[in-house]
Amino acid sequence: MQELTVALTKGRLADKTMELFEAAGYSCAQMKESSRKLIFENNDQHIRFFLAKGPDVPTYVEYGAADIGVVGSDIIMEENRRAYEVLDLGFGRCRMCVCGPEKARDLLLHHEMIRVASKYPNIARDYFYNRKHQTVDIIKLNGSVELGPIVGLSDVIVDIVETGGTLRENGLTVLETICDLSARMIVNQVSMQMKTERIRSFIGSVRKELDRRQ
Ligand code: PRP
Repeated sequence: MQELTVALTKGRLADKTMELFEAAGYSCAQMKESSRKLIFENNDQHIRFFLAKGPDVPTYVEYGAADIGVVGSDIIMEENRRAYEVLDLGFGRCRMCVCGPEKARDLLLHHEMIRVASKYPNIARDYFYNRKHQTVDIIKLNGSVELGPIVGLSDVIVDIVETGGTLRENGLTVLETICDLSARMIVNQVSMQMKTERIRSFIGSVRKELDRRQ
C-alpha cells in the first residue's frame, strides 16, 4: 500500500480534523499520547500525520512533503500555493471581515485613502484594490490585530471574525464582510497523479462521513 502523509494545522483545527478522520476510519493512537510530538504514524494503515503552523500547511503540500493538508480557506487564499482544493470539511466556520470603530464606516463609503492592518495582507490588498477599487495603505501585523485601530496604527483591520467576542470586547464592529471561511482539504498535484487510488479512497471515506453528519 502506498504511504500517505497528511499535514494538519496545529491546534483546535487538528483536533477536529482527527475526530473526523477517525470517524472516517483513519485513526492515529500515537497522537493521543503526546502533546509535544509533531509527527505520528499509523503503520497498519500506512499513513502519517504531522502538525504544522497553518500558513506552512500549503507550503508542505505544494512541495510534496505532505500529500494532503487540512487548513483554513483564509490561509489558502493568503498563501496562494499550488495545490488542489478537494473538500470543504464544514468546521472552522468564520468570516473574513473589514472591522473597525463605527466612525470608520464613512471612510469605506467615500473611498478615502485609509490604513488597513492585517495578518492577511494579500487578502486585504485583493479586496481593496481589485474588488473595491480603493487605494489603501496595508500594514502587516502578526496577531492581536484589533489593537490597530485602538492605538491609532490603522483606521480599520481585515481579520477573521468567529464569535465576534474579540471585536465586542475591544469596541470594534464588522464594517464589511469579505467572504465566508472554513477548513478545507488540499492535495499535492503530483501525489494526485501518482497515488490516485489511495488519495481517492481517502477523500471518499472522509466525504462519506461528512455526508453522514448532514
Ligand atoms: C483570531 C482572529 C480574531 C479572533 C476572532 O485571533 O484574528 O482576533 O480570533 O475570534 P472571535 O470572533 O471568536 O473573537 P487568534 O485567536 O487566532 O489570535 P491572534 O489575533 O493573536 O492571531
